[in-house]
Parts: sequence; structure tokens; C-alpha cells
Amino acid sequence: MFRSDLFAGQHVLVTGGGTGLGRAMAERLLALGATVEIWGRRGPVLEQAAAEMGPGCFWRAVDIRDADAIDAAVAESWAAGRPYTRLINNAAGNFVSRTEDLSHRAFRAIADIVFHGTFNVTNAVGRRWIAEKTGGAVLSIVVTWVWTGSPFVVPSAMSKAGVDAMTKSLAVEWGRHGIRLNGIAPGVIPTEGAGSRLRPGDRREDQMATRNPLGRVGSLEEIGDLAAFLLAPSSGWINGQTVALDGGDWLANGAYFTEYLGWGDEEWTAARARIRERDAA
Ligand code: HXC
Repeated sequence: MFRSDLFAGQHVLVTGGGTGLGRAMAERLLALGATVEIWGRRGPVLEQAAAEMGPGCFWRAVDIRDADAIDAAVAESWAAGRPYTRLINNAAGNFVSRTEDLSHRAFRAIADIVFHGTFNVTNAVGRRWIAEKTGGAVLSIVVTWVWTGSPFVVPSAMSKAGVDAMTKSLAVEWGRHGIRLNGIAPGVIPTEGAGSRLRPGDRREDQMATRNPLGRVGSLEEIGDLAAFLLAPSSGWINGQTVALDGGDWLANGAYFTEYLGWGDEEWTAARARIRERDAA
């Protein structure tokens, strides 16, 4: 689909790049000539991913809930002579829960990553691009419920909607600095991380495929290709857009998780236990 040197000379920071969608996008850009730096919380996971992804993949253990750690990591990358030219905001956290069961700490657990963390990374990188007059491009991974809202994932829906608002707002504010911001709103693209927290013990991918206008879920290759398109130097006039990558699902079905409206105490207690089991593993 693309020239194999499309990203030559580009150095792309991918948060949450050691697994799932983040890793798929990082691999796609590497294959198109970029170098990448993947961030995540778990050093060993990143180290192994980087070894598998090969030369050109750098890694750094950074928890994006920690603003000082972000600033330090960005400064180190610039000092090492590897300034980022592109940023993919991919790191996220989420789990399904009845909203009335959430404590304020549970809300913060999601908002600290998605809402605050995404802003802090974007601002730390963006202010470097502004100071050095290099321009740059940001791609944020949101979800189609930035348009519909979604039951049972309210902290995520609120936080992702905030990221979408950041995309549109900074597209205008930072356009004069040559910085573009766009988003991808994926539908269901099966990964272990999201599946275990959003469909605990019950993946139901066949149902997600059946309700989709195109009769299937999405693939990692498809998000890799769209990320490459939106971040490519030749897409330089696309700014402030969030593109749904969902086979038309949200147009046909609106919000996700409405099937959980039928759950009672027993199902919610079991779901919470399964999600916590996954987090403890
Ligand atoms: C209710 C829960 C809970 C659950 C945690 N909490 N899990 N409440 N149901 N299942 C509450 C805890 O009781 C606690 O509150 C508070 O949240 C913080 O708990 P911690 O264990 O300290 O959480 P933490 O270590 O911060 O980790 C939580 C997490 C974790 C951030 C959600 O799962 C994580 O690190 N996830 C990262 C990866 C991920 O989630 N990927 C999926 C992204 S999918 P109390 O009051 O008890 O102290 C996505 C969109 C996909 O973003 C869209 C698909 C269509």
C-alpha cells in the first residue's frame, strides 16, 4: 500500500507500544523505514518486544501517569540525539463496571492514564517541536464512543472524549507551528489486553462480527496502515480529524456493551473478579 521508505528519517514515539495495537502500529512504521521508541510500564515486556521487532526499535519504561517521568524521558531522547518526529498516543486503561460500583480511585485509575497521561505526553513532545520549530504530527487512538458515549465504561468514555477534544483544539492552536493532530477511533480489533478487561471470560468476537456491517472484526494490519497514512509526510493537510476504523459499526449500532444491561449482581461480581485476576497475573 505504501512506499517502503515512506517513513525514512522519522523517529516515532508509541506509548503502550510493547503490546496490542501499539505494537502493531510500531511494527508497520518500522517496516516503512521509521525508527520507533516504544514506551510502557513493564521493562521486560518492552525489552522482549524490541528484540523481536529488531534494529530501529528502542524502548523505555515510562509510566505515563507520572508527568515528571515523561519530561525526563523526553529530555533523554532529545539528549541522545533521537528526537521524536511523530507521536502515537496509544497507551490506555479500561475495564467494564457498573458506574455506581466505581470508587473515585477507580475513576482516577483510568483518567490518570488516558486523560492526564495523554495530555502530558503530547504537551511534553509538542513544546519541544514548538521551541525547535521542527513541526511534528500526533496520532491519538480513541474509540467510537467519543461520539456515542458508552455504558459501563464511563471513565474511559469521558477520558477518550477529552483526548478527542484535545486533538481538535490543538490542531487549530498548534497548526501555526506545523504540528498536525489526528485520531483513529477503532472498533473491535481483538487484542488480549482489551478483551480480558472488556469481555471478561467471554470474548464474544463472533457476536461482534455478526453485528458489524462488514461481518467481521478489524485486524492489526488495518490499524497499522491507517496510522501510516495519517502520519505520512504526504498527508500534511489532514489536521484535526478522527477517523473511525470500525467497518461502519458505530453507524449501525451506536454504543457498545448494551448487552450488559441484562446483568445483575452475580454477573458483575464474577466479571470484576475475572478482571482483577487478569490484572494480578
Ligand atoms: C471495579 C476496579 C476494577 C474493576 C480496578 N478497580 N479494577 N473497580 N471493577 N474491574 C478499582 C480498584 O478497586 C481501585 O479502587 C482502583 O480501581 C485502582 O485499582 P488498582 O488495582 O490500583 O488499579 P491500577 O493498578 O491503576 O490498574 C487498573 C487499570 C489496569 C489501569 C485499569 O487494568 C491497567 O493497568 N490497564 C492497562 C491496560 C488496559 O486496560 N488495556 C485495555 C485498554 S482498552 P479502590 O477504591 O478499591 O482502591 C481501551 C478501549 C478499547 O482503552 C475499546 C474497544 C472497543
